[in-house]
Parts: sequence; structure tokens; C-alpha cells
Amino acid sequence: MEHFIGWENFWKEWRNKDIETENDLYFQVGKTVHNKPIEKEIFDRINEGIVHTLDLSEEDILVELCCGNGLCTYEFRDKVKQIMAVDFAPHLIEAAVKFKSATNISYTLGSVTEFLASLESKGVHPAKYLMNDSLAYFKPEDLKEILTLISGVARGAFKFLIRGVPNDLLKWNFYNTDERKQRYHEYVAKGDITNDGLGRWWSPAEIEQICHTLGLDVVIRNQEPPVSNYRMDILISK
Ligand SMILES: C[S@@+](CC[C@H](N)C(=O)[O-])C[C@H]1O[C@@H](n2cnc3c(N)ncnc32)[C@H](O)[C@@H]1O
Repeated sequence: MEHFIGWENFWKEWRNKDIETENDLYFQVGKTVHNKPIEKEIFDRINEGIVHTLDLSEEDILVELCCGNGLCTYEFRDKVKQIMAVDFAPHLIEAAVKFKSATNISYTLGSVTEFLASLESKGVHPAKYLMNDSLAYFKPEDLKEILTLISGVARGAFKFLIRGVPNDLLKWNFYNTDERKQRYHEYVAKGDITNDGLGRWWSPAEIEQICHTLGLDVVIRNQEPPVSNYRMDILISK
């Protein structure tokens, strides 16, 4: 997975400075609109949606992939029995441990695939998985690998919610000025996949195709403003 080297460096550098306020945690993982943290009401609504969609209960072990600084992770501590969270950016895991710890949350520094592979040897078989605002930093072959690993670890029924994926069919909602369009075309011409840090645009059809190939069910829903008019949420289950 060659491109991970690039994204790993990107995230290691991203907002790698001291955290002084709760607001800094929002900036650190890009949960901002017009240079301000997203409103508390919207933040709460997003997290309630996750609890509902994943049908989280006190019996569940929740695995959170790409947990960042634990800003959202922490909100689920009273909803489940245990949370196992992973991210490969050291300063984000440090912030998570410092500011968003709870007795039933473990934060691990590492890549998603290595972490999922390690679960098998730990003898745990979680059935609930979350990846929030992060699939844009992966490629289709990575998604296949992640889904194959989850299918093996879960050993039966599971739900995997992948939130906030840039939807290729909605990208003109994002590139909605001539300047933005031009910038996008320049990135494409250069073969630059970072898109200013936004990452890869995914088409719903390619995600459906991957899931169907692996025999998994998938439901895709576009997010709506004020959350986003260019991202989608994907629920994959078996
Ligand atoms: C936009 S942030 C989202 C963080 C968090 N999920 C949230 O919603 O606040 C994307 C995160 O993905 C992590 N990430 C990207 N690729 C990863 C990988 N292959 N393994 C582990 N973490 C990864 C980055 O370090 C970063 O923390």
C-alpha cells in the first residue's frame, strides 16, 4: 500500500502542535466550518446518528478505525461495553489518551490493517465497526482488504459504518466556484490525489461493487446540510 506513506506523513504533520482548549481538538481533526468548530448541536446529532445506525448497545465492542484524537470516540463510552480505537498519527493518539480517555477505551497507535490483523490473535470478535471521515485516505484495494479482515475477525454478523466519504457524484457541490473548479482540474492534471487534504472522491457504484464481490450488504445515503452536501455515509453489514 504505497500511498499510505504519503498520507501517513500528511497526518503526522497535520496540526501537530500543543492542544490548549477543547476547540483545538476540533481543529486538529478538521471538524470545522468557516474556521470555527462545528456547532455542538450538529456534533451531537452526528454522534447520535452513529449510535442509531450501528445499533450500539452495552453488550457491544466497538472498533473505531482512524479515531484521530478521540473527539467522537469518547462520546460512545457510555453506549458500549468497550471501545478499541486505532490511528497512525502519534500526536493524535497522544491527544486522545490525554484528553479523551475512559476506562473502557483503548487507543492504539498503528495502521488500520495491522490493527485488524492483530485482533485475530487477541481472541476478540467485535461486531461493530466505525470509520469516521477517513475513507478518503484509502484506495479501493485497501477497502477490500479492510472488509476481508473485518469479515474474518467478526466471525459472523457485523455492521461497519463508514461516514463522511467524499461522493464523486456530488463533487460539484464542493467545487462550486470557477476558482475551486480550476484548482480541482489542476490537481487531476498533476495526478495529485490529496485534493488539499480532502482525499479521494469515491463513487457509490465502486463501493457497491466491492461489497457485492465480497458477499456483503451495503446501504449508501448522502449526507445532508448542515452536515455536508458532498459526502455520503455507507453501512456495510453481513
Ligand atoms: C479527518 S481525520 C478523522 C479523525 C476522526 N475519525 C474524526 O472523525 O474526528 C482522518 C484520520 O485518519 C487517520 N488515518 C488515515 N489513514 C490511516 C491508516 N491507514 N491507518 C490509521 N489511521 C489512518 C489519520 O491519522 C487521521 O487521524
